[in-house]
Amino acid sequence: MSQSQSQRGTEKRKPVALHVAVPTEDESYPVLIGPGLLAKLGYELRRSHSTARRVALVSDDNVMPLYGELARTSLEAEEFVVHNFTIPAGEASKSVEQLVKLVEGMVGAQMGRRDVVVALGGGVVGDLAGLAAALFMRGIACMQCPTSLVAQVDASVGGKVAVDLPAGKNLLGTFHFPTVVLIDPEVLQTLPDRELGCGLAEMLKHGALFSPEHFHQVVAAADDIHGRDADVLARMVAASVALKAACVSRDPREQGEAGKGRVVLNLGHTVGHAIELASGFELKHGEAVGLGLVAAARVSERKDLAKTEDGEPGLEQQVKAALTALRLPTNLDDWLTPERLERLEAGLGNDKKRGFSSISYIGLSRIGDPAVLSLTPQEIVGLLRNPKPDC
Ligand SMILES: NC(=O)c1ccc[n+]([C@@H]2O[C@H](COP(=O)([O-])OP(=O)(O)OC[C@H]3O[C@@H](n4cnc5c(N)ncnc54)[C@H](O)[C@@H]3O)[C@@H](O)[C@H]2O)c1
Repeated sequence: MSQSQSQRGTEKRKPVALHVAVPTEDESYPVLIGPGLLAKLGYELRRSHSTARRVALVSDDNVMPLYGELARTSLEAEEFVVHNFTIPAGEASKSVEQLVKLVEGMVGAQMGRRDVVVALGGGVVGDLAGLAAALFMRGIACMQCPTSLVAQVDASVGGKVAVDLPAGKNLLGTFHFPTVVLIDPEVLQTLPDRELGCGLAEMLKHGALFSPEHFHQVVAAADDIHGRDADVLARMVAASVALKAACVSRDPREQGEAGKGRVVLNLGHTVGHAIELASGFELKHGEAVGLGLVAAARVSERKDLAKTEDGEPGLEQQVKAALTALRLPTNLDDWLTPERLERLEAGLGNDKKRGFSSISYIGLSRIGDPAVLSLTPQEIVGLLRNPKPDC
């Protein structure tokens, strides 16, 4: 971290505070965003949990050595008794075994109903710790402290918590809304570049769905974001979180009608997930989502949902240009070899969003304007094929 960056981090700046509505109309939880906020973790937790005594500080073995001490010191300064739980980094830790181990550890630490789980880490830690909080003694409070960009702009907001089963991702889970989300963009200094890129793909998705302004601002800020400018990150993360927060507030438990609820957040994920699997995880999830955005743009254009004025770049071109600026892959066609298209079609056939033979596929009529298309896996694959087959 440069000296100027660390100086900026220690300045007293007011965090951005957003409020996310939860199912009952008069309830919401704050999302606090600001450089240096992690040092105020204890203070923020004490403000919202005046009677809590014990804290389960859950992190992974990359993040705990980096930020565990700062978190613990801040919590102890507010007289919390801190119990550290460190899981191995990576998706494999989103397992029933780790879940039970964590809950048993909380029992062993004599935690009670008024105590709190603090999830300090990426989406894996957030999902696992959030589910443990939801289940321990029928549910205790959870504070989300996301440290990856994916977790800051996406996973920590919205209350979805889960672990994976051998049969698939996120199959064992529930909604458990955090009592506070505390986001410190300074921790992104240590986030590996490819992980940062994955978060950028999600931010671009939020812009593509809800705000052309955000879409263009993320692209314009690409270099500052890659340079880990904490002020720019704070602003851009806050804007992205606000878009996701508005969406989940309209449909807290994903029950909304197609096109109006949080189902649109699946933009780029249907094909992206299938490509991620087909790549044998050579591609990271966010990189595959970026390719999924290209796919959604192509399908939308070829279905005549997205129309372009003469002389203007088409939707696919706009999405590819944005991904290039964000240093994300755009080579969708390399992943659509005849053999992979076959696997993609089979994968889409198993997609959890499938209703009978059709899939609710999220397209765009333009940047900022999503629409739900009902397409079969065969139709999607046919629309993606390049060169476009003659009809
Ligand atoms: N609940 C939701 O709504 C939701 C939404 C999106 C994703 N998710 C879930 O989130 C997970 C993906 O999240 P992720 O991309 O954060 O993965 P992750 O938690 O595996 O983190 C990615 C990597 O970055 C490391 N890391 C995190 N913060 C760091 C930091 N500040 N410095 C250095 N290293 C750091 C982690 O140790 C890990 O190796 C998936 O399991 C996905 O299903 C959940």
